[in-house]
Amino acid sequence: MKIEIVNGPNLNLLGEREPEIYGNLTFEKYFDELKLKFPEIELSYFHSNVEGEIINRLHELRKISNGIILNAGAYTHTSIAIGDAVAAIQIPVIEVHISNVFAREEFRHHSFITKHAKGLITGFGLKSYELALHNFMI
Ligand code: DQA
Repeated sequence: MKIEIVNGPNLNLLGEREPEIYGNLTFEKYFDELKLKFPEIELSYFHSNVEGEIINRLHELRKISNGIILNAGAYTHTSIAIGDAVAAIQIPVIEVHISNVFAREEFRHHSFITKHAKGLITGFGLKSYELALHNFMI
């Protein structure tokens, strides 16, 4: 089973970015832990700050992956194009957020992705990714 985590803008700064919201761990460190916890999953990780690159990666993954865990960062709330890309591909996409977007500013309450995703996990810190991975195990 091949699953890729796709992270969008500013998520490369985890560990130093607003630690009171996003924690102190870098994504690279967390990703290493995740691979050890889920040895039966072929787990890969892609990051881009660029909207079109995220869309290109979703298109590529539709042919080579069994599922996607997508944290599109702020593009979640602005990008019709990423929402369309998720709607266009057949493999399951789980939308995740580290913070509870519904407990934050109003502009974070809307997502262009959720409607087309298999599900949404938000607010469990980096554990949100882990909870999404469990979904692929059942
Ligand atoms: C985020 C929530 C978004 O609103 C924000 O723009 C991010 C991170 C999260 O994981 O909590 O960049 O997707």
